[in-house]
Amino acid sequence: MDIIRTIPELKRIIGPVRTSGRTIGFVPTMGYLHQGHLSLVKAARSECDFVVVSIFVNPIQFGVGEDFEQYPRDLASDARMCQEEGVNLIFSPSEREMYPRGFDTRVQVEELTRGLCGRGRPGHFRGVTTVVTKLFNLVEPDIAYFGQKDAQQALVLKKMAADLNMNVTLKIMPTVRETDGLAMSSRNAYLSPDERKAALVLYKSLKQAEELIKDGSRNASKIIDTMKEIITGEPLAQLEYIEIVDTTNLEHIDYMEAEVLIALAVKMGQTRLIDNIIVEVQ
Ligand code: PAF
Repeated sequence: MDIIRTIPELKRIIGPVRTSGRTIGFVPTMGYLHQGHLSLVKAARSECDFVVVSIFVNPIQFGVGEDFEQYPRDLASDARMCQEEGVNLIFSPSEREMYPRGFDTRVQVEELTRGLCGRGRPGHFRGVTTVVTKLFNLVEPDIAYFGQKDAQQALVLKKMAADLNMNVTLKIMPTVRETDGLAMSSRNAYLSPDERKAALVLYKSLKQAEELIKDGSRNASKIIDTMKEIITGEPLAQLEYIEIVDTTNLEHIDYMEAEVLIALAVKMGQTRLIDNIIVEVQ
């Protein structure tokens, strides 16, 4: 497995892979890999000839006062995991390599980034779409893999790829959870033992919403109220948002008739956690 730091080196390897006709599977990450990332790598390994993982903590998707500096980093451990999963190449560039002096371009998806996490994190998705565009141009993947845990990111990136006629298929893989239901995330490493226990309210509230819908509830604001009670009942939790939206355009839904996305963001101490589920409404 190669660990590549620079764009010229990456191109030297990717060029021959492409011309030999091998398919490239790509898993973009910010590192500190966990089983959620590895599920994407496994999918890439089973579907593509050559698997690339990028590890880059992208500064332009973090806002002022967010956790860019503290974001956990452990390239040695990430490399071991990738090696075990049969990854062919890790691309782990420096900030300067990705954003040389004078870098002045941004990629922006407009409507889909206005709500949910886009409201509380202005500029976040612009940073994501910009870096992923650069990574797609560099790696030239046939298939790129993302997690459903970042549901809005997945939709935004699909829209970007479609609108800009990018030659890549995006596959969105299911959220991987700890045995008690907490969605896996590199940011879980920030949680104190008490916060880790308290963080279960996210999944608990989503499961409760799912139960209510199964039992016939169709009024979104009633379901959101029940979820809010669960979240605000946990003293360590500060609710940012709970929303029930259309799974394709993220527009608010009042009365549920078809599949919906239920998404929430909660701060547990200093740590911002997100989670979501898609519920089929019969
Ligand atoms: O989901 C992430 O880890 C990041 O947002 C991504 C897609 C790697 C872009 O930096």
